[in-house]
Amino acid sequence: MDSPIKICCIGAGYVGGPTMAMIAKQCPDVEVHVVDLNQSRIDQWNSDELPIYEPGLDEVVREARGRNLTFSSRIEAAIQHANMIFIAVNTPTKSFGIGVGRAANLEFIEKCARQIAECSTGHKIVVEKSTLPVRTAEAVKRILNSSANGATFDVLSNPEFLAEGTAVQDLLYPDRVLIGGESQEAINRLAQVYGRWIPKDRILTTNLWSSELSKLAANAFLAQRVSSINAISALCEATGADVDEVAKAIGTDSRIGPKFLKSSVGFGGSCFQKDILNLVYLCENFGLHEVAQYWEQVVIMNDYQKRRFSERIVSTMFNTVSDKKIAIWGFAFKKDTNDTRESAAIHVCHNLLEERARLVIYDPRVHESKIRSDLKMAFSDVNGVLSDKHKQLIETNVTVVQDAYVAAKEAHAIAVLTEWDEFKQVDAKRVFDGMRRPAFIFDGRNIVDRSKLTQQGFEVHCIGRS
Ligand SMILES: NC(=O)c1ccc[n+]([C@@H]2O[C@H](COP(=O)([O-])OP(=O)(O)OC[C@H]3O[C@@H](n4cnc5c(N)ncnc54)[C@H](O)[C@@H]3O)[C@@H](O)[C@H]2O)c1
Repeated sequence: MDSPIKICCIGAGYVGGPTMAMIAKQCPDVEVHVVDLNQSRIDQWNSDELPIYEPGLDEVVREARGRNLTFSSRIEAAIQHANMIFIAVNTPTKSFGIGVGRAANLEFIEKCARQIAECSTGHKIVVEKSTLPVRTAEAVKRILNSSANGATFDVLSNPEFLAEGTAVQDLLYPDRVLIGGESQEAINRLAQVYGRWIPKDRILTTNLWSSELSKLAANAFLAQRVSSINAISALCEATGADVDEVAKAIGTDSRIGPKFLKSSVGFGGSCFQKDILNLVYLCENFGLHEVAQYWEQVVIMNDYQKRRFSERIVSTMFNTVSDKKIAIWGFAFKKDTNDTRESAAIHVCHNLLEERARLVIYDPRVHESKIRSDLKMAFSDVNGVLSDKHKQLIETNVTVVQDAYVAAKEAHAIAVLTEWDEFKQVDAKRVFDGMRRPAFIFDGRNIVDRSKLTQQGFEVHCIGRS
């Protein structure tokens, strides 16, 4: 009989935390230890205020924590105890050296592999959960095989497809779980875990390289759809077509489908841009220059969309926003998360601050300290140095408030940058009465009721509508 599965997950972030909480919830007899270098993150996982906001996550964690789910910074002990080790650490874009701005920084992955090699004995299954360039498993295997303790390993690729904001539902009812590997026995062990709640036909198995590449390809295809509809939105604004009507018309074609056709100020999040750039770098490495250029255009279009939105605000407001108060509604990269990585809001705020606008920012889930540190980062140079001038600009021109109405008070304009549901339901008269005239709304998510707001007296500007 198989020995009981004992899991360790290295990395307690947006992926490690929720995925392991779900495994622990669904498999009460499987021990799940989540470990991280970041002690304050671990402390938050052990508290009533989790480090990440996801609808439904509190309940999942509460059910399993203390029963078969633990969070700690005792990485070595957790590795030693486990027979299945997930690596769910961050793989950001390199900010230095060869491949800067494109390649994935694999430093954290390599450190994990070395630590696993150093403190393991017996046989362990190592699962790549992080998103990685194709053939990373080869490097991981080589490092693991250098273990001096005689330990042996199977390496599996099991990329995560959850979307932030719907992580709990995505983990409960995934479209598919992908497991790539060489050892059928190891694949079966991992499939056995997911098989507790996921139908067998949704657990796909492939070779290692197909699995690693599928994750990059999936994100590239998703981001490509957003950039495609955003490209059409620019043409709609120029011609009088309405991008939502066009999206509906093309999305009803069953070959195209309706999902991911919502035009916006641009995609954000920690993954899309990073993973496409990683794909572009890989293609370049293999001499596939046309393929690299093809995918890079998805990121170029996204940058264009963010810039275009900021420029439209400035040109509409009589070519100057200097000293004008602009309410920023939403700072997270999408609704139902507190994650701001690569959020379009950071870029738009940066552009408006460069024009010397005064920003009053409100987001229901993002802390003021995070907003300020993101803006400081946006103004820092390549070495991370923030000039006194920019520091001063952020201090004097940025206010963070706890209420959408307070943000809009005395404002010349509102920019909707995250599609939080509460922005759809605001009391239009109350907002309008508090604002300067003309009262502009720039809807970067096409969520407000344009005709109602126009009737109220607002001048409403949406994406993809002239
Ligand atoms: N965020 C998403 O929606 C998402 C979805 C699918 C896949 N992914 C991929 O999953 C991976 C993790 O993403 P994330 O958003 O959870 O990142 P994250 O930054 O939220 O979390 C990573 C965690 O790993 C920890 N860590 C780094 N090196 C460590 C080490 N050597 N030992 C222990 N802990 C270490 C960090 O302290 C951090 O808490 C990335 O490769 C990402 O591309 C992310």
